[in-house]
Amino acid sequence: MAESLSVSGNTKKEKYESLLPQIKALIEGEPDFIANLSNIMSALKFGMDFFWVGIYFVKYLTPALSEGEGVKKELVLGPFQGPVACTRISLGKGVCGTAWKEKKTIIVEDVDQFPGHIACSSLSKSEIVLPAFDANGDVILILDVDSEELATFDGTDKIYLEQLMRLIESLTPALSKGEGVKS
Ligand code: SME
Repeated sequence: MAESLSVSGNTKKEKYESLLPQIKALIEGEPDFIANLSNIMSALKFGMDFFWVGIYFVKYLTPALSEGEGVKKELVLGPFQGPVACTRISLGKGVCGTAWKEKKTIIVEDVDQFPGHIACSSLSKSEIVLPAFDANGDVILILDVDSEELATFDGTDKIYLEQLMRLIESLTPALSKGEGVKS
């Protein structure tokens, strides 16, 4: 794996085009999904200078928490970089829960204008949230990227971060069969 990252370019497009091949090199040869996601989160946060980046996994509630409703699922915090964050998010709640429910990328220019936004940090002002899917088209995890400035994210972030989601999906053969961290 690469020992360090060096992101070049002046524009956001140039930076993503510099970073994404380095992320591929970073995880090459390493089969562990959590280890790879952890390094990808670090590369994304420090490579693009974002405030917070992290994964939320779609997980079944544990029997103890669900009181018998074993089939209910929630988003549960996974590898991330940045300040401590909310651990669990329900379907349809906040930006992450909405992206999960609607199965689509959501860009929020001003989090205060998003109904039900979950404020893990008052410093977060705008965000982009993207789902990753299994082979059946079910959401297996969510990527949340937050900024301390308003309107940080646009179509360019969507293009390159969706490429990153496709890469993450390619790392999850066990997850797409319903094994591993999904359940
Ligand atoms: N803002 C998110 C919650 C996650 S944190 O920002 C890390 C939301 O509304 O879904």
